[in-house]
Amino acid sequence: SQSSEAALLTFLSSSPEAVIPDTYPWSESNKFDHATVVGAIKSLSGDQYVTAENVEKSFYTLTKEGESIVSDGSQEVLVLKALNVAGKLSIADLQTKVGKNVAKIGMGNCMKAKWVKKDGPDLVPLKKDDEVEDTVQKILQTLKEADFRPDALSDKNAKDLKKRKLVSLVTLKSFKVTRGPQYASERVKKAADLTKEMLDSGSWETEQFKPYNFQVLGEKVGGGYLHPLLKVRSEFRNILMEMGFSEMPTNKWVESSFWNFDSLFQPQSHPARDAHDTFFIKNPAETVSVPEEYYERVKEMHEKGGAGSIGYRYNFKKEEAFKNLLRTHTTAVSSQMLYKLANQPGGFKPARHFSIDRVFRNETMDATHLCEFHQVEGWVADYDLSLGDLLGTIETFLNKIGITQLRFKPAFNPYTEPSMEIFGYHPDLKKWTEIGNSGMFRPEMLRPMGLPEDVRVIAWGLSLERPTMIKYRIDNIRDLFGHKVEMARTRTAPLLEQRNGDITTST
Ligand code: PHE
Repeated sequence: SQSSEAALLTFLSSSPEAVIPDTYPWSESNKFDHATVVGAIKSLSGDQYVTAENVEKSFYTLTKEGESIVSDGSQEVLVLKALNVAGKLSIADLQTKVGKNVAKIGMGNCMKAKWVKKDGPDLVPLKKDDEVEDTVQKILQTLKEADFRPDALSDKNAKDLKKRKLVSLVTLKSFKVTRGPQYASERVKKAADLTKEMLDSGSWETEQFKPYNFQVLGEKVGGGYLHPLLKVRSEFRNILMEMGFSEMPTNKWVESSFWNFDSLFQPQSHPARDAHDTFFIKNPAETVSVPEEYYERVKEMHEKGGAGSIGYRYNFKKEEAFKNLLRTHTTAVSSQMLYKLANQPGGFKPARHFSIDRVFRNETMDATHLCEFHQVEGWVADYDLSLGDLLGTIETFLNKIGITQLRFKPAFNPYTEPSMEIFGYHPDLKKWTEIGNSGMFRPEMLRPMGLPEDVRVIAWGLSLERPTMIKYRIDNIRDLFGHKVEMARTRTAPLLEQRNGDITTST
């Protein structure tokens, strides 16, 4: 059997004026599904083989009840007839005679028209069959004879019949089809591409090509994507730069214990310096040099104290200070930057710095802990800063990254006093989670560097992974970091981030 597409083209081949006035009856008489014909017309008119105009036709259809009235008469007439045959009937008897539904509707209509009345438990007729007219049946029959055209019904009748649920109006959408500007009795598949074969054989000269479709949506470009973690990093970086922070050079993962611990007034016996917590480097195991005078002042602060402190009073060992390690925090970089700031030509000037980079800890790995993660570190060095400045700065930053409910809890760090752990409310988990640590760097750390006495440094360190996991609703860190990361997630993570009502591009 012919396809509907071919049948349409064949039909139109009889003459240039050939027309299918309405595809609906045409489909029926050619035994095609109308939807299929519509599909063929859309495709053919796309290539201008045919021209199609919309046709909309409305007509009535009979409901089941409407159909039975046309053939058997209305319920009211059936009830009246039954009563005239019997003389009188109880409702139960009427129901067995004409059926429950007919009895119910017919009785109501007969009472309204005063055709019947109640006589005790019985119903008795007030009219003979031939004294009444079955108007409803007549209207429906007339409608049928008029091929169910909507204009065959008066508005009032249409309303009444619809109310009695005897008819419903149906609107059919179809097409009027004529030949199009590119009509041909057979469809030629047009070439989409010029091929080497066409060039070789010369067939390109006669080949029919598809015209370019400039409206078509382009294919997805499979370019580079930023990993979700790096996306959040670039967002945080933008925010911190907006807040006037400049980035520290954190491209060195190996540090000496001196910068990672000693400069931060962390005693050499501190448990964090154990091989269980820190990855020490075997080769080269020792750093080459540290600033000599500064080293002496740090050693003195540890051993004897100063700036109002009594120090730790132990023997500071050079071999401990020179041990190389994978930095356990980016605060190792902060201390080098602060040392530089104190000793730059022209002396100290207020500054604010941040970094977002990797740190390493010899930890047991589980769903939320890996041996390496990223720290978002920031600090402000200026005269006479207070704890209020620290709270305000952290709050501003965290609000900007979308964490608005904050709590601070007193904590201890060897290098800050006071120190505060930062907690943020997780709206999904409905609980407070620790997101970072903060404090004001101690004089024992700052004085040996040579910073002026009234300079205070407020600082914080957050993990990058925590807020990223919250943002992307990830509950296992291995889905975010490492070789098990799903590439699809990287592609679907949105490029545009909504923040404070602004759209910002993350690159
Ligand atoms: N270095 C701290 C940590 O690794 C974070 C921190 C940075 C705390 C700066 C106070 C000040 O958790």
